[in-house]
Amino acid sequence: MIIIAIDGTAGSGKGTISELLARKLGFCHLDTGAVYRSLTYFFIEQGIDLEDEELIRDTLDKLDFKVKFEKDEFGNQVQKNLLFGKDLGNKIRTEKISISTSKISKFSCVRKFANKIQHNIALNYNLIVEGRDVGTVVFPNADYKFFLTASPEIRAKRRSEQLSQPQNYETILKDIIERDEADMKRKTSPLKKADDAILIDNSYQTVDETLSEIISYIK
Ligand code: DC
Repeated sequence: MIIIAIDGTAGSGKGTISELLARKLGFCHLDTGAVYRSLTYFFIEQGIDLEDEELIRDTLDKLDFKVKFEKDEFGNQVQKNLLFGKDLGNKIRTEKISISTSKISKFSCVRKFANKIQHNIALNYNLIVEGRDVGTVVFPNADYKFFLTASPEIRAKRRSEQLSQPQNYETILKDIIERDEADMKRKTSPLKKADDAILIDNSYQTVDETLSEIISYIK
Protein backbone atom coordinates (compact mmCIF):
# COMPACT_ATOMS: atom_id res chain seq x y z
CA MET A 1 0.00 0.00 0.00
CA ILE A 2 1.10 3.61 -0.54
CA ILE A 3 1.86 5.84 2.43
CA ILE A 4 2.15 9.63 2.26
CA ALA A 5 3.32 11.05 5.59
CA ILE A 6 2.34 14.61 6.51
CA ASP A 7 3.82 15.82 9.76
CA GLY A 8 3.88 19.32 11.13
CA THR A 9 3.22 21.81 13.87
CA ALA A 10 -0.18 22.55 15.47
CA GLY A 11 -2.32 24.72 13.22
CA SER A 12 -0.06 24.29 10.17
CA GLY A 13 -2.99 23.16 8.04
CA LYS A 14 -2.01 19.46 8.04
CA GLY A 15 -5.59 18.36 8.63
CA THR A 16 -7.13 20.38 5.81
CA ILE A 17 -4.35 19.56 3.37
CA SER A 18 -4.35 15.85 4.24
CA GLU A 19 -8.11 15.63 3.78
CA LEU A 20 -8.05 17.38 0.39
CA LEU A 21 -5.10 15.34 -0.80
CA ALA A 22 -6.80 12.10 0.25
CA ARG A 23 -9.93 13.02 -1.73
CA LYS A 24 -7.91 13.99 -4.76
CA LEU A 25 -5.92 10.74 -4.78
CA GLY A 26 -8.77 8.50 -3.58
CA PHE A 27 -6.78 7.56 -0.47
CA CYS A 28 -7.93 7.40 3.15
CA HIS A 29 -6.87 10.19 5.49
CA LEU A 30 -5.60 8.79 8.77
CA ASP A 31 -5.62 11.54 11.39
CA THR A 32 -3.29 10.17 14.07
CA GLY A 33 -3.93 13.16 16.34
CA ALA A 34 -7.52 11.88 16.58
CA VAL A 35 -6.21 8.62 18.04
CA TYR A 36 -4.25 10.47 20.75
CA ARG A 37 -7.24 12.75 21.34
CA SER A 38 -9.61 9.77 21.71
CA LEU A 39 -7.36 8.18 24.32
CA THR A 40 -7.18 11.50 26.20
CA TYR A 41 -10.97 11.79 26.07
CA PHE A 42 -11.29 8.35 27.66
CA PHE A 43 -8.71 9.02 30.40
CA ILE A 44 -10.41 12.32 31.32
CA GLU A 45 -13.84 10.66 31.31
CA GLN A 46 -12.50 7.97 33.66
CA GLY A 47 -11.02 10.62 35.97
CA ILE A 48 -7.49 9.31 35.41
CA ASP A 49 -4.58 11.51 36.47
CA LEU A 50 -2.89 12.38 33.16
CA GLU A 51 0.53 12.30 34.83
CA ASP A 52 0.03 8.73 36.13
CA GLU A 53 1.87 6.73 33.46
CA GLU A 54 1.44 3.40 35.24
CA LEU A 55 -2.32 3.75 35.52
CA ILE A 56 -2.50 4.90 31.90
CA ARG A 57 -0.52 1.81 30.82
CA ASP A 58 -2.88 -0.51 32.75
CA THR A 59 -5.94 1.26 31.33
CA LEU A 60 -4.67 0.84 27.76
CA ASP A 61 -4.46 -2.92 28.30
CA LYS A 62 -8.22 -3.03 28.89
CA LEU A 63 -9.22 -0.49 26.28
CA ASP A 64 -11.33 -1.38 23.25
CA PHE A 65 -10.40 1.32 20.74
CA LYS A 66 -10.57 0.96 16.97
CA VAL A 67 -10.25 3.18 13.92
CA LYS A 68 -12.46 2.46 10.92
CA PHE A 69 -13.11 4.16 7.61
CA GLU A 70 -16.65 4.57 6.35
CA LYS A 71 -17.84 6.13 3.11
CA ASP A 72 -19.92 9.30 3.47
CA GLU A 73 -22.72 10.34 1.07
CA PHE A 74 -20.13 11.81 -1.34
CA GLY A 75 -18.13 8.58 -1.46
CA ASN A 76 -15.26 9.98 0.64
CA GLN A 77 -13.74 7.69 3.24
CA VAL A 78 -14.26 9.18 6.70
CA GLN A 79 -12.35 8.13 9.82
CA LYS A 80 -14.41 6.89 12.76
CA ASN A 81 -12.76 6.68 16.17
CA LEU A 82 -14.57 3.94 18.06
CA LEU A 83 -14.33 3.65 21.81
CA PHE A 84 -15.99 0.43 22.97
CA GLY A 85 -17.80 0.45 19.61
CA LYS A 86 -19.10 4.05 19.87
CA ASP A 87 -17.93 6.79 17.49
CA LEU A 88 -16.52 9.71 19.46
CA GLY A 89 -17.30 12.22 16.70
CA ASN A 90 -16.45 15.83 17.55
CA LYS A 91 -16.19 15.25 21.31
CA ILE A 92 -12.42 15.02 20.87
CA ARG A 93 -12.15 18.49 19.25
CA THR A 94 -12.06 20.78 22.27
CA GLU A 95 -9.24 23.04 23.50
CA LYS A 96 -9.16 21.08 26.79
CA ILE A 97 -8.52 17.85 24.87
CA SER A 98 -5.91 19.60 22.66
CA ILE A 99 -3.88 20.72 25.66
CA SER A 100 -4.30 17.48 27.65
CA THR A 101 -3.32 15.36 24.64
CA SER A 102 0.13 16.90 24.58
CA LYS A 103 0.60 15.57 28.14
CA ILE A 104 -0.30 11.93 27.55
CA SER A 105 1.28 11.67 24.11
CA LYS A 106 4.75 11.77 25.68
CA PHE A 107 4.27 8.33 27.29
CA SER A 108 5.85 5.44 25.40
CA CYS A 109 2.95 3.08 26.28
CA VAL A 110 0.56 5.54 24.61
CA ARG A 111 2.76 5.87 21.51
CA LYS A 112 3.13 2.09 21.26
CA PHE A 113 -0.65 1.70 21.40
CA ALA A 114 -1.20 4.39 18.72
CA ASN A 115 1.59 3.05 16.48
CA LYS A 116 0.07 -0.43 16.45
CA ILE A 117 -3.24 1.00 15.28
CA GLN A 118 -1.50 2.96 12.50
CA HIS A 119 0.52 -0.04 11.30
CA ASN A 120 -2.58 -2.27 11.20
CA ILE A 121 -4.54 0.23 9.12
CA ALA A 122 -1.65 0.62 6.68
CA LEU A 123 -1.93 -3.08 5.83
CA ASN A 124 -5.26 -2.47 4.11
CA TYR A 125 -5.43 1.09 2.79
CA ASN A 126 -3.50 3.61 0.71
CA LEU A 127 -3.06 6.39 3.24
CA ILE A 128 -2.34 10.02 3.81
CA VAL A 129 -1.13 9.78 7.40
CA GLU A 130 -1.17 13.05 9.30
CA GLY A 131 0.68 13.48 12.57
CA ARG A 132 3.85 14.45 14.39
CA ASP A 133 6.12 11.41 14.03
CA VAL A 134 4.74 9.65 10.98
CA GLY A 135 7.75 10.23 8.72
CA THR A 136 10.32 9.82 11.47
CA VAL A 137 9.11 6.92 13.62
CA VAL A 138 5.89 5.25 12.53
CA PHE A 139 6.50 5.00 8.77
CA PRO A 140 10.19 5.80 8.20
CA ASN A 141 9.89 4.15 4.77
CA ALA A 142 6.82 6.12 3.68
CA ASP A 143 6.62 6.68 -0.09
CA TYR A 144 6.47 10.48 0.33
CA LYS A 145 7.12 12.67 3.35
CA PHE A 146 6.16 16.28 3.95
CA PHE A 147 6.63 18.57 6.93
CA LEU A 148 4.25 21.52 7.15
CA THR A 149 4.69 24.59 9.25
CA ALA A 150 3.93 28.31 9.44
CA SER A 151 4.86 31.07 11.87
CA PRO A 152 3.20 30.75 15.32
CA GLU A 153 1.43 34.12 14.80
CA ILE A 154 -0.13 33.01 11.53
CA ARG A 155 -1.14 29.64 12.95
CA ALA A 156 -2.78 31.37 15.94
CA LYS A 157 -4.64 33.73 13.59
CA ARG A 158 -5.95 30.78 11.54
CA ARG A 159 -7.01 28.93 14.69
CA SER A 160 -8.86 31.95 16.07
CA GLU A 161 -10.76 32.29 12.78
CA GLN A 162 -11.77 28.58 12.90
CA LEU A 163 -13.15 28.58 16.45
CA SER A 164 -16.92 28.75 16.78
CA GLN A 165 -16.62 30.51 20.14
CA PRO A 166 -14.36 33.57 20.11
CA GLN A 167 -11.20 33.22 22.17
CA ASN A 168 -8.49 35.72 22.90
CA TYR A 169 -5.79 35.69 20.18
CA GLU A 170 -3.00 35.99 22.78
CA THR A 171 -4.30 32.89 24.63
CA ILE A 172 -4.41 30.87 21.40
CA LEU A 173 -0.88 32.00 20.49
CA LYS A 174 0.38 31.00 23.94
CA ASP A 175 -1.31 27.55 23.64
CA ILE A 176 0.22 26.99 20.20
CA ILE A 177 3.72 27.88 21.41
CA GLU A 178 3.29 25.63 24.49
CA ARG A 179 2.05 22.69 22.39
CA ASP A 180 4.94 23.07 19.93
CA GLU A 181 7.36 23.03 22.87
CA ALA A 182 5.75 19.98 24.48
CA ASP A 183 5.63 18.10 21.14
CA MET A 184 9.21 19.00 20.16
CA LYS A 185 10.88 18.52 23.52
CA ARG A 186 9.42 15.17 24.58
CA LYS A 187 11.90 12.30 24.68
CA THR A 188 9.71 9.75 22.88
CA SER A 189 9.01 10.51 19.22
CA PRO A 190 9.47 14.28 19.36
CA LEU A 191 7.97 16.38 16.61
CA LYS A 192 10.70 16.98 14.06
CA LYS A 193 11.16 16.97 10.32
CA ALA A 194 12.48 13.68 8.94
CA ASP A 195 15.76 14.25 7.09
CA ASP A 196 14.16 13.12 3.85
CA ALA A 197 10.86 15.03 4.30
CA ILE A 198 10.05 18.03 2.10
CA LEU A 199 9.63 21.15 4.22
CA ILE A 200 6.74 23.43 3.31
CA ASP A 201 6.36 26.72 5.18
CA ASN A 202 2.85 27.77 4.21
CA SER A 203 2.75 31.06 6.17
CA TYR A 204 2.05 32.98 2.98
CA GLN A 205 0.38 30.29 0.90
CA THR A 206 -3.29 29.58 0.32
CA VAL A 207 -4.53 26.03 0.91
CA ASP A 208 -4.67 25.49 -2.87
CA GLU A 209 -1.07 26.63 -3.27
CA THR A 210 0.15 24.23 -0.57
CA LEU A 211 -1.86 21.41 -2.11
CA SER A 212 -0.48 22.10 -5.59
CA GLU A 213 3.07 22.19 -4.23
CA ILE A 214 2.59 18.79 -2.57
CA ILE A 215 1.01 17.27 -5.66
CA SER A 216 3.88 18.53 -7.80
CA TYR A 217 6.20 16.14 -5.90
CA ILE A 218 3.95 13.08 -6.29
CA LYS A 219 4.72 10.98 -9.33
O1 DC B 1 -2.91 17.12 15.32
P1 DC B 1 -3.71 17.31 16.59
O2 DC B 1 -3.83 18.74 17.03
O3 DC B 1 -5.05 16.66 16.52
O4 DC B 1 -2.86 16.55 17.72
C1 DC B 1 -3.21 16.61 19.08
C2 DC B 1 -2.00 16.28 19.93
O5 DC B 1 -1.70 14.89 19.74
C3 DC B 1 -0.72 17.03 19.62
O6 DC B 1 -0.50 18.13 20.45
C4 DC B 1 0.36 16.01 19.88
C5 DC B 1 -0.31 14.69 19.78
N1 DC B 1 0.09 13.92 18.60
C6 DC B 1 1.27 13.20 18.68
O7 DC B 1 1.96 13.28 19.69
N2 DC B 1 1.65 12.40 17.65
C7 DC B 1 0.91 12.31 16.54
N3 DC B 1 1.30 11.52 15.55
C8 DC B 1 -0.29 13.07 16.43
C9 DC B 1 -0.67 13.88 17.48
